[in-house]
Amino acid sequence: MNQYDSCWLRYERVPKGRLDSYRRRCLHAYVAEKAPELSAVRDELRRALPELLGRDPHFWQHPPTTTDGFLAIGTPDDMAMIAESVGTDVVDDLADGGYLLRSVTWNGQDCLVVTAPTDRGLVYGTFHLLRLLNTHEPVDDLDVCEEPTYENRLLNQWDTPFHRSVERGYGGESIFDWERLPDLRPRYEDYARLLASIGINGIVFNNVNTTKPERASANAAFDAFEGWQLLESHRLEAFTSLASVFRRYGIRPYLSVNFAAPMLVGDLDTADPLDEDVRAWWRAKADEIYELVPDFGGFLVKADSEGQPGPYDYGRDHVDGANAIARALEPHDGRVWWRAFVYGTHEDRAVQAYDTFQPLDGDFADNVTVQIKNGPIDFQPREPVSTLFGAMPETDLGLELQITQEYTGQGVHATYHLPMWNEIFAFDTHADGPGSPVHSLFRGDGEGIVGVGSVGEDHSWTGTYLAQANLYAFGRVAWDPEMPAETVTEEWVRQTFGTDENVVDTVTRILHDSWEACIDYETGGLGLMHMMHNGEEHLENHFYPSPDEWPGYHGATDEGIGVNRTSTGSGYAGQYRGPVAGRYESVEDCPEELLLFFHHLPWTHELEDGTTVVQRLYDNCFAGVEQARQLRDEWQSLDGEIDERRFRHVAERFDEQVAQAERWRDVLTDYFYEHSGVPDEQGRVGND
Ligand code: GCU
Repeated sequence: MNQYDSCWLRYERVPKGRLDSYRRRCLHAYVAEKAPELSAVRDELRRALPELLGRDPHFWQHPPTTTDGFLAIGTPDDMAMIAESVGTDVVDDLADGGYLLRSVTWNGQDCLVVTAPTDRGLVYGTFHLLRLLNTHEPVDDLDVCEEPTYENRLLNQWDTPFHRSVERGYGGESIFDWERLPDLRPRYEDYARLLASIGINGIVFNNVNTTKPERASANAAFDAFEGWQLLESHRLEAFTSLASVFRRYGIRPYLSVNFAAPMLVGDLDTADPLDEDVRAWWRAKADEIYELVPDFGGFLVKADSEGQPGPYDYGRDHVDGANAIARALEPHDGRVWWRAFVYGTHEDRAVQAYDTFQPLDGDFADNVTVQIKNGPIDFQPREPVSTLFGAMPETDLGLELQITQEYTGQGVHATYHLPMWNEIFAFDTHADGPGSPVHSLFRGDGEGIVGVGSVGEDHSWTGTYLAQANLYAFGRVAWDPEMPAETVTEEWVRQTFGTDENVVDTVTRILHDSWEACIDYETGGLGLMHMMHNGEEHLENHFYPSPDEWPGYHGATDEGIGVNRTSTGSGYAGQYRGPVAGRYESVEDCPEELLLFFHHLPWTHELEDGTTVVQRLYDNCFAGVEQARQLRDEWQSLDGEIDERRFRHVAERFDEQVAQAERWRDVLTDYFYEHSGVPDEQGRVGND
């Protein structure tokens, strides 16, 4: 038995009602031979079917000649039965990763077919079928056709190699033990299974910070960035074993690299991207990698940001930097994911990414993707969407979301990110006129969705069991951003906690209400942000309230609060397309939930319903705590309905979350009172 949790891949005995139909179609199975992915499919069925069906299935070595029904998994080329019962053309038309599930009658028997044009699609199709069985869905009339919306669905693992730590990871130390490679741990395969089951097709194994930045040398959390070493030849050889685990699940391996690698790993005295020796070094390194790992996906680069080296060190720009590395990967079908998370000279950091990257549109090489965080600041509980979305039509773009809860309660709070992501995806950028939602972008070849990962050594993988839902939901929205939130969440709850309707409803409700609660007690709402403590200790950093530390982000003065990002301020609002810019520019039209992100307003400014700004902030802080208490009570109502281990674990974290929410409320409301001098109308603040 695993010493760690199975997350949503726990296979438990199906109840009687469904069992007959499942057994009829699945107790004989044939999985085509050939690719490594198909051996993974077979292994998964061997794990799942005996548990689900209470019987050992018979795996045929050849296409079955049984008079019973059977489950057939393969491409139409693999099996005549598949080609004849489903048709070759319909399968061939599917994108990479797409698949079909069909119930068919073959030789008078009830059978099931999982088919796809690629082996990766067979992996996804198999996991889809197991999800149906695991959640007791009917399969007698199955006709499912799925294709991923985005070509690239990548996980960015911020692990710091050789130190077993994970930057902004709250699930314990890293699961990856680089020192011991090529030795493998069972956990690697289980991680690959979890990722493949939700459609992830690439993983960047190491932190974007690949060296220890000078600026942070006194900060323990930043102490040991040595990811650049992964490009050393002996490390790359060891890496092949890890890559082969993920390959079986259709997941391409990637590495974060240091822009100065030609100096750090090689012995050049420059990393100038226009230097011929530097270019030759990258070419040779790429050749070496692809010789060892033929399906290598490419490099992720954080350059000229937070102490990481970059092209500016040589008077070059981001195009020079990205293209030099991309050229080395190009013959191998590799890609550079180049991050747009940069700082600069602007006092308002929100302005920077657009200012730096938009003018470069059209100049990046075909195999460069510019990877952009969802908002202009940094994964805050709520931000407006980045102005770069839809603003670089000639460039491949990637959307970066944070799965890990850096600013949303870390390994303690239940904060479900799916409602936030859905808000982002639905936002109309007007990039192609009205009706250009964010989800319609990132769909081209070389584009995609990226999630900053959350797993670690903890039994729960993610630090708290409910945070597994964020990882699950990320994979599902990266597959289909228009899937209703309820569908995604209920899928997760049913697989994770069982199909009891009360449990499903309660956990779903808790998750869906959690994000707004966090916004309210951690910010007061109205678009405020970044009032967190920037502590020395990893687990303190961005966890506790400390509004004094970063006045620039919320703009509180004795006169008012908020940051003027209109044309009379930093001008950030003007970076959006016309109608969006107009809406944000105007105090009257700006949506209330972002009002203070765009405007600096007097504390007593009246909102639409007549409430003053400061009163709304008080009210929201108190409401957030009430909501956190409500979430805790709802969880408590599940005592006895969920296994003791997971029930207690989450219950204890809810107790801490409520205490923490109260602390946030008290610190923030005191701070608002201290600056505004306006007491709370309900006598809760400033009336003693
Ligand atoms: C945030 C985060 C850092 C991270 C950075 C990034 O600032 O706190 O830990 O390195 O984002 O995205 O590069």
